[in-house]
Amino acid sequence: MTRRLDLPDGAEARDGLLHAPSAERNAEPILAVLDPRLPTAGRVLELASGTGQHVATLAARHPGLTFEPTEPDPLRRMTIDRRCAALPNVAAARDLDVSVAGWGARGPWDAVVVVNLLHLISDAEMAVLLDEAARGLARGGLFAVYGPFRRADAPMTEGDAAFDASLRSQDPAIGYKEAEVVESVLAALGLRPERVEMPANNLMVLARR
Ligand SMILES: C[S@@+](CC[C@H](N)C(=O)[O-])C[C@H]1O[C@@H](n2cnc3c(N)ncnc32)[C@H](O)[C@@H]1O
Repeated sequence: MTRRLDLPDGAEARDGLLHAPSAERNAEPILAVLDPRLPTAGRVLELASGTGQHVATLAARHPGLTFEPTEPDPLRRMTIDRRCAALPNVAAARDLDVSVAGWGARGPWDAVVVVNLLHLISDAEMAVLLDEAARGLARGGLFAVYGPFRRADAPMTEGDAAFDASLRSQDPAIGYKEAEVVESVLAALGLRPERVEMPANNLMVLARR
């Protein structure tokens, strides 16, 4: 399901396009991790593409890959299409709710990327997301999930705890996921997880099929 959430740092209109300040901030660190790990050719699915800032940057840097942005919000899909209009290797943004099982059958993808979504969905919805991503990955394909996480062995920072509490006050089913849980689900699905520490206490969890 999709929710209307009150989030800090939300997308704003700029030059006729929606623009997310967070995507501008985290683009370079995310690309620094993904650039060397992506193949030179193949299909990349992006879940919850939002304003399309990440897919546009990735597509410009990886012309041999075909990118498939997805996003349930129609206004954001329009922004993604406009932002990527000059990029021949980006497909039209498709309506996809990660929690509705079945989308993995449209693979195989050489990479599946999702940025800043897991904390906005429930555990059950995340289980569907991870399962479908694992189903949809090609052999050797890369799953990459970026965002804020809880760690089993460390307390949350004050800022993370406040954001997590604000999410849970809007819907008790959502909030930060524990990195170790995500990694163990991925391992149980037959993927090999790897964790990369990112700026602002975020994580990138990568997993290969
Ligand atoms: C915080 S934004 C992140 C957008 C983008 N990935 C980025 O990093 O800029 C979260 C996005 O997830 C989308 N979303 C929320 N629930 C979803 C769901 N169940 N399935 C797919 N996307 C969802 C929202 O519409 C929104 O665009």
